[in-house]
Order: sequence, then C-alpha cells, then structure tokens
Amino acid sequence: MEKLTEQWTGQFCASVNAEKREKVVKVLKDLVLNADDVAKIMKVFTSQMDLANGTDEGKRKQSDLLMDNTHVRCLMDGTESGDYLGLDLGGTNFRVVLIRLKKGVAETTMDNYTIPSDVLCGPTKGVFDFIANKIMDFFEKHDIDNRKEALPLGFTFSFPSTQVALNSSRLVTWTKSFKCPDGVGEDPVKLLEQALQRRGLADKVDVVAVMNDTTSTLLAGNYIDKKARIGVILGTGSNAAFVDHVENIERWTGDTKDPKEVVVVVEWGCAGDNGCLDFYRTQYEKEVDNSSNHVGSYTFEKSFSGLYLGELVRLVLVRLTQEGALFDGNLPQSLSETWSLTTSHVTEMERDESMSTMHTREALKQLQMTSSEATEDDVAIIREVAAMISRRAAYIVAAAIAALVNRTQLPDVTVAIDGSLYENHPKFHSCMMDILNTFCPKSRVKLILVKDGSGLGAGFVAVSALKQNAAQLRCS
Ligand code: BGC
Repeated sequence: MEKLTEQWTGQFCASVNAEKREKVVKVLKDLVLNADDVAKIMKVFTSQMDLANGTDEGKRKQSDLLMDNTHVRCLMDGTESGDYLGLDLGGTNFRVVLIRLKKGVAETTMDNYTIPSDVLCGPTKGVFDFIANKIMDFFEKHDIDNRKEALPLGFTFSFPSTQVALNSSRLVTWTKSFKCPDGVGEDPVKLLEQALQRRGLADKVDVVAVMNDTTSTLLAGNYIDKKARIGVILGTGSNAAFVDHVENIERWTGDTKDPKEVVVVVEWGCAGDNGCLDFYRTQYEKEVDNSSNHVGSYTFEKSFSGLYLGELVRLVLVRLTQEGALFDGNLPQSLSETWSLTTSHVTEMERDESMSTMHTREALKQLQMTSSEATEDDVAIIREVAAMISRRAAYIVAAAIAALVNRTQLPDVTVAIDGSLYENHPKFHSCMMDILNTFCPKSRVKLILVKDGSGLGAGFVAVSALKQNAAQLRCS
C-alpha cells in the first residue's frame, strides 16, 4: 500500500521494448501518489473543514471550503406520504421527477432533457425559461396538469451556493459547462419562480427547498440505507455533503432542538485554489486548468472529475509522444485537439481485464484512430496511462471521503454516490475502497451507487422541508 500508484506502473506495458517502457515509467513517475500523499490530502481536508467551520472570519478565509449549512435537518423516517416534484439542474442534462410516496415507499416518474450549449452559455433567463418549458412538457405528458393544490417542489441546483433558508440560496459562481454571463449573487429559487410565472405555472408548483446535488443524493441514499450519512457526486464535477452534529459547527446560529444535526455541503471542488494541494498536483493538472472554462478555480475537481479525467489522460499521451515513446513521435490528429479524449473513452479503456486490450482498441476506434496509427506497443502504453490516471484519480477523491468518514466517528458509514464517473468506471469503486479500508480504521465503510439520486433526492428534500417547517426548526 505504501507506494500506492507506483506499484502498478509498468504493469500493462511489460511487453513493450525496454527503452520505451523506461520512458513511460519516467513520465508516469510524476503522477505517482504514495501513502504519505493520501494521508496529507486527508490532513489538509480536515484542517480546511475546521477553518471553514469557525467563527473567526480571518481564519475562515484561509479555507477554500464553503462548509455550507443546508438548513436540512430531517432525514426521512419511512412514514411519509404524498406527491412531490424534484428538479435536477447541474450538468448538461436536466431532470424532472414526480415522486408518489405511500408510507415511505416511493413510486417515481422521471424525464431527462438535454440543455443546448447556447443555453448553457447564454443569460440565466434562458436557462430558467428552458426549465419552465420542460416542466410544462412533463405536466402535459404525465397528465398532472389539473391538480387542485400546488405540488411541493425540491430544486437540486448543483453549483456553489450559500443557503439563506430552505427555499432560498445565492449562487457563488457558475462551474462545469455553465458559463452564463449573469446569475452570480442571485437566488435560483427566485429565478425559477419568475420563469414558472412567465410559463403560467406559478400556482401549480410551490418551491419549498433548494439544495445541492450532494444533499439530494445523501437523502436518496438514506432512503435506501439508513446508515448513509455522506452524499458524494462523482460525475462531471464533484462534491460532498454529510450529516454533522450542530455542536461540531462553531459558527452554528440555529437552535439546538432535536435532531441536533444538519446536512453540511463541503463544496470541495474548489479545495486547493489557495495552493494547499499543490504538493501532489502535476503539470498536467495545471494544463487542464489553463484550458478549462474557469481558470484558477475548482483546483481539486480538476484532478479527477469526469469533465477533466479524459483530458488528463490525453495530455500524458501527448507528452509520451513528444518523448518518442508513443506513435513514433507523431501525434495522431484524433489526439491533437484539447478535450478530444473524454472520460467515457477512459472508462471504455478501463473495461479491459488482465492483459487484454480489446476495450482500449475500441476506445481508440471511437476516437477515429485507425489501426495503422496505433501499434500494439502504443495500445499497451495507452492502457497503462488510462489505468494510472484512473487509479490516481480514485485515490485522490477517496482521500477526501476518508477525511469525512473519520469526521463522522461512526462505526458504520454508508456513502451514497451518484454521478456518471462512479457509475460507469469499472475500477473506481474498488480503488476507492482500497483507500477507505486502509485510512478509516475505525469505521466499516460502504460505498453505494444511488442512481439518479440527485433527482430523486430533490423530491425527498421537499418532504424534509415540509416536516421541518411544521416542527419550526430554526437553522440560522
Ligand atoms: C459544483 C458543486 C456540485 C458538484 C457536483 C461542482 O462543480 O460546484 O456544487 O455539487 O459540481 O455536481
């Protein structure tokens, strides 16, 4: 375990000629992550969380983490009934979900819509009008137009935000593929309500909660497994939320009634923007950052999340080509464009087991690379790189999860995970478990996939919101 990623280097290109292999190992050396690095990442996260939780403004500014109080205090207890709507906005896909709960058992209907790229980069009004139109389509398609009472709606809005109340927050910045020129500082609930009004839907829905996708995933996970106390997104972007004891939060200003707990969103994608993770970052992460939509921010996320993993692999392949270890030194057209290699190509490559390269070849085919462009050695080296970057990525994010698990101090902790990277990458789960089994000695950790958790959980948070309002719990 000590050497972590290093012990794997060279495994898949064992048959490649010695000179090339040496070059590969030399380039991949920069990416090696050892046990000390993992322990250090955990330590950095623990101290950044403590700083962000404090009341001293000066100290809080030393942390990149938001540690945002979500105002969500009640999880579901399995007795709830009623109809709820969930909205899920965060990636290029937008989802609408209808949840019909009968004594805690949910029946769900969900539709997916792809947001066109001009909408992602246009004014926020366009984004919210797009959403309102799709809600209208959903109502018509599922015949839920003619209800007497407004449906309670939970809105998953997966961008860094500060919570003001259960149904009010402020956008801190756009991330991922969203690059709207406005919206920062605004309340997504107000923007949604205005769009619903324009679409004539204002009396049909009642927005009772807005939350991050990590919170909705946590609630969706907790619906399945009551030991779920942490929700993680491992998709285009990444982040985590967890149930914390209000006594652990120095700056807590809410009441201390039961449950003395609240869901906290870490907002960890931007960890390291202040340089605290520079000790493990490589030139490749810096290059990814330079060509990203949000240069100089969202440092941590750029080491492993789905938006960036493919590009990290591509950059290492470019370097190996420059070193003469790949493609006889001539970079194929298909790899010359930034972002041309995506995480789904990496996921495909990682389907290969033992020394097989069938899936790696398939991924290269999808990249339009001809078989004459990639020799057997090239394919073996590409497989090596995909494996190395994937394993390293899984270890990095697992280190942050390990810090959270240790914070809960519980003997059994389930981590509910949603997101395409975790769902589709065949080896991420077991690599993450390697770290958690070693670095969380006091807890039995279970990682579970909660497919569509961020959408389903939006409805569950609406349920919690209504329960909390009835119990008059004060969160600030
Ligand atoms: C956003 C987070 C979100 C995560 C996963 C990040 O880019 O800033 O708020 O939870 O992506 O969707």
